[in-house]
Amino acid sequence: MEMKTGFKLETMLVSDNHLPTLLGECLPEQRVYEGLEGVLAGRTAICDIDGDVGALQFRGIDIRELAEHSNYEEVVYLLWTNELPTSNQLWAFKAALAAEREVDAGIYEILRFLSHYMKPMDALRTAVSALASDNPGEDNTSPESRLAKAIYLTAKFPTLVAYYCRESQGKMWVRPDPKLDHAANFLYMMHGRRPTPVEARAMDLTMLVMVEHGFNASTFAARVTASTLSDMGAAITSAMGTLKGPLHGGANQGALEMLFEIGTLDRVEPYIDAALSAKQRILGFGHRIYRKAGDSRVPFIKNMLYQLCAQSGDFHLYELADAVAQTVWEKKRLFANVDFYLAPMLHMLGISVDLLTPFFAMCRIAGWTAHVMEQYANNRLIRPGSLYVGPVGRPYIPLDQREGAIVPNF
Ligand SMILES: CC(C)(COP(=O)(O)OP(=O)(O)OC[C@H]1O[C@@H](n2cnc3c(N)ncnc32)[C@H](O)[C@@H]1OP(=O)(O)O)[C@@H](O)C(=O)NCCC(=O)NCCS
Repeated sequence: MEMKTGFKLETMLVSDNHLPTLLGECLPEQRVYEGLEGVLAGRTAICDIDGDVGALQFRGIDIRELAEHSNYEEVVYLLWTNELPTSNQLWAFKAALAAEREVDAGIYEILRFLSHYMKPMDALRTAVSALASDNPGEDNTSPESRLAKAIYLTAKFPTLVAYYCRESQGKMWVRPDPKLDHAANFLYMMHGRRPTPVEARAMDLTMLVMVEHGFNASTFAARVTASTLSDMGAAITSAMGTLKGPLHGGANQGALEMLFEIGTLDRVEPYIDAALSAKQRILGFGHRIYRKAGDSRVPFIKNMLYQLCAQSGDFHLYELADAVAQTVWEKKRLFANVDFYLAPMLHMLGISVDLLTPFFAMCRIAGWTAHVMEQYANNRLIRPGSLYVGPVGRPYIPLDQREGAIVPNF
C-alpha cells in the first residue's frame, strides 16, 4: 500500500518469511485453539446446534417444528423471552414491532447521503450505528429498556435496507405498511407491491430460519462488545462489521456471483475443477459446525428456492445450484451451507446481489439482540489470553544506530 506521502507501508509489516523464526514451541498446557475451534466460550439458553447430526433448536424447540408451524415474529418473541406467546401476546407483539417501523428523517438523510458513496453493508452499518446510539440521560441499562431497544432495532432495520435499495436505484420511497407482517412488509417496501402468498411465505420462513445460530462470529462479536457493558447499538454495529466478511455473511454474495459466472450446467465441472486446483475457497460451502451432517438450514431454503422457481416456471437457477452442490461434494466432500441456497432464493425474490448480506443482517438482528440481552443478564468480561510467539529481550537501538533502516521520505 502506497500512502499519500510516498511511504511504503510494507516496510512496517512483518514479512511471512520471518514467521517461522518467531513461532515458539508452546507447552502442552498452553494449547492454542486456532480460530477458537472446539472452545466453549460461554453458556447460552438461546440456541443449541448439534452439527454431528444436523440438528438445530431455538429455546429447546426443533427448527423443523418452528419452520412448519411458526412465523418470524413468534420466533423472535421466543428468542427474547424464552416462551412462545399466547395469541394475545403475539398480536400485541406484532403490533409493537409494526408501530416501530418508521425511521426519523435525520436517519433517512444520513442513509440517502451514504447510498451515493458506500456499498450497502457499509452504509447500513453506519446508519444502524447512528440509529442505535443511546441518548445520554436515558435509562439504557434495565432489562425493559434493552427489550425496547431490541424491538426498535429489529423493527427499523428492514426499513433501512428497503430505503437504501430504492434510493440507490432512484426509485420512490415506499413507506412501511403496519397491516402487513414483518417479512411481507419488507418485500412490500422493496418492490412497492404486495407479495404473493408464496413470496410472503418464502420471506417469512427464510427470516425465521436465519434469525439465530449460536455463537457464530458476528453473534460472538456482539457478545464481546456487550461484555464490556457497552450499549446494544455498539454491539449490533460490531456484529454487522463481522458479518460482512466473505467467510461469514458475505459468502452469499460470492456464491451468487459464482452461479452467475458459471451460467450453464456444462460449465459447472470445469469451473469447480479450476477453482479447486487454484486452491480457491468456494463460497457457500463448508461450515465449522456442520462438517459431518450438512447444514440443518439448507433443506428449508432449498425447498423455498424450488417453490419460487415453480412459481416463475423457470428452474434454471435451482438446477444450476444443485449441480454445483453435487460437484463440490463429489470433488471436495464439502456440503453446501445455508448461504449457498440463500443467495439464489433471494435473487428469485428480487433482492439484488449487493443486498444479500444486509438481508442476512436484517434476519439476524433479533438473534444478535437476544444474545446481547443474555450477555448483560449474566455478564463477565470476555477477554481471552494469547500465546506470545514473538522475540523476547531485544535491546532498544537508538534511531541513528539502526543499520539498514529505511527512512521514509515524508
Ligand atoms: C465456513 C468456513 C470459514 C469454515 O472454516 P473452518 O471451520 O475454519 O475450516 P477451515 O478453513 O480450517 O477448512 C478446513 C479445510 O477445508 C477446506 N475448505 C473449507 N471450506 C472450503 C471451501 N468453501 N472451499 C474450498 N475448501 C474449503 C480448507 O481449505 C481446509 O482444507 P485444508 O485442510 O486442505 O487446508 C469455511 O468452510 C469457508 O471458508 N467456507 C466458505 C465461506 C462460506 O461459505 N462461509 C459461510 C459459512 S455459513
